[in-house]
Amino acid sequence: MEDQTDTHPKTSGPIETTGRQWPYRLVELTDADAQRMLVLEEQVWFEVTPGASAAEVMGAFDYARGQGVEGPPVATPTPAGTGVPPLVGMYGAFDMRLTVPGASRPVQVPTSGLSWVAVHPDHRRRGILRAMMRAYLHRLRDEGAEAVSALWAADVGIYGRYGYGPASLQVNLVFGAGAELNVPNRVRSAADDVATHLMSAGDDETARALQAAHERAAAATLGIAARNALTTREFFRDFPVARGARERRQVLFASRDGHPVGYATLQREQKWDEHMNATGEMIVGEMAATDAPALYALARRLLDFDLITKVTVHGRSTDDPLVWWAGGPRAAATRVHDALWLRLVDLPAALVQRGFAAPTDVVLEVADETCPWNAGRWRLTVDDAGAARCVRTEDPAELSMGVEVLGSSYLGGRSLASQAAAGTVLEHRAGALRRLSRAMRADVEPMGTSGF
Ligand SMILES: CC(C)(COP(=O)(O)OP(=O)(O)OC[C@H]1O[C@@H](n2cnc3c(N)ncnc32)[C@H](O)[C@@H]1OP(=O)(O)O)[C@@H](O)C(=O)NCCC(=O)NCCS
Repeated sequence: MEDQTDTHPKTSGPIETTGRQWPYRLVELTDADAQRMLVLEEQVWFEVTPGASAAEVMGAFDYARGQGVEGPPVATPTPAGTGVPPLVGMYGAFDMRLTVPGASRPVQVPTSGLSWVAVHPDHRRRGILRAMMRAYLHRLRDEGAEAVSALWAADVGIYGRYGYGPASLQVNLVFGAGAELNVPNRVRSAADDVATHLMSAGDDETARALQAAHERAAAATLGIAARNALTTREFFRDFPVARGARERRQVLFASRDGHPVGYATLQREQKWDEHMNATGEMIVGEMAATDAPALYALARRLLDFDLITKVTVHGRSTDDPLVWWAGGPRAAATRVHDALWLRLVDLPAALVQRGFAAPTDVVLEVADETCPWNAGRWRLTVDDAGAARCVRTEDPAELSMGVEVLGSSYLGGRSLASQAAAGTVLEHRAGALRRLSRAMRADVEPMGTSGF
């Protein structure tokens, strides 16, 4: 078999650009670059300056996993000093553990969470993102630690071309004043064994408690990409200037017998109507629990805060108990968006790391332009216990698809059959689609929570 691995492009140095050759270079970043990274971030994302040092704002950036792109030196002084080449592009990544379908229960797989993707407005559409994506994916493959890459897309049109497919949905819910949840008595009384308490986020103690709750809830919840402790601490750091008039983020913790069983992060905004009645609003950014009583214990507190008449909960799923306890999607005023986009970086490793719901034996023909080592034919064999083997084969293809289709079905939410109905999977042997589609499905929809 032809070795497709020596088609790697360079992952540092001069980059090929679109049209004329611009003198851009992929470079490594260190914490000495924090100031120019911050300048780039601000110009790309036009967020309010947090009023903190660059090192603090970039605290979660893992310099071993990200890269920058330098442009030609400019005559005008750059914030980092005259003559220093400006940073015109960057990306970063988090080491995460993604909860995916397992043979009997969800399992966590090492996952690279791509983030911080930015190209300076003066340098867009010259191929900088393309060069960064190739470098990132080829490095991931060479390092071999993570077979899957995940991201939240700022725009739905960007990442499909790099082999990413939307794999989960985030469902946002809105509850008005007096909203009630219709919960079975069994769950209601079990929730009485769950203690809840509120802490302000932003300090190390809360970050540690949040990380413990996050890890336990993420392991039990399909679709959550769990952050490491450093990322949690930095992600929930408090930047008073950037949050303006909003309150410091709060965390509502749930515990049973002293062990964390769930959490919700929230921010409230004080509001009053013309009659001086409180009409405050709460946004719940992230909510996760290990089981239904813990989820309900959190929910009933969130819906019963003084001075609050509207609660918006982000990042749930279509079959989330909260939606159905509320009476269904209409009762909870649901809105649906794409959540995690997934990319199989090392296709056989990624497929073997997850479990399957039924035995199958199928030959896939996969197209993958950005990661050519994945392209070609693979035999995927799943045994009665739901464990898979995936090896190269010369046998005729039974199904063919782009690698992004497998990314979309990897969490078990979006089915292969539904993607075939959209025309992106071809079946060459009758029955192969149905068997693999069923084997890849999860019991519940992946949860679209926990951004990064
Ligand atoms: C989105 C962004 C990273 C693109 O960078 P870029 O260097 O201009 O992209 P490239 O020139 O490498 O373009 C690569 C391809 O993506 C396409 N593309 C780029 N941005 C796109 C967008 N927002 N929507 C659709 N397609 C897009 C280009 O047309 C090009 O297509 P082609 O390969 O078929 O020619 C950059 O515009 C940016 O930083 N935007 C603001 C921040 C942001 O959205 N970041 C993404 C975070 S998830």
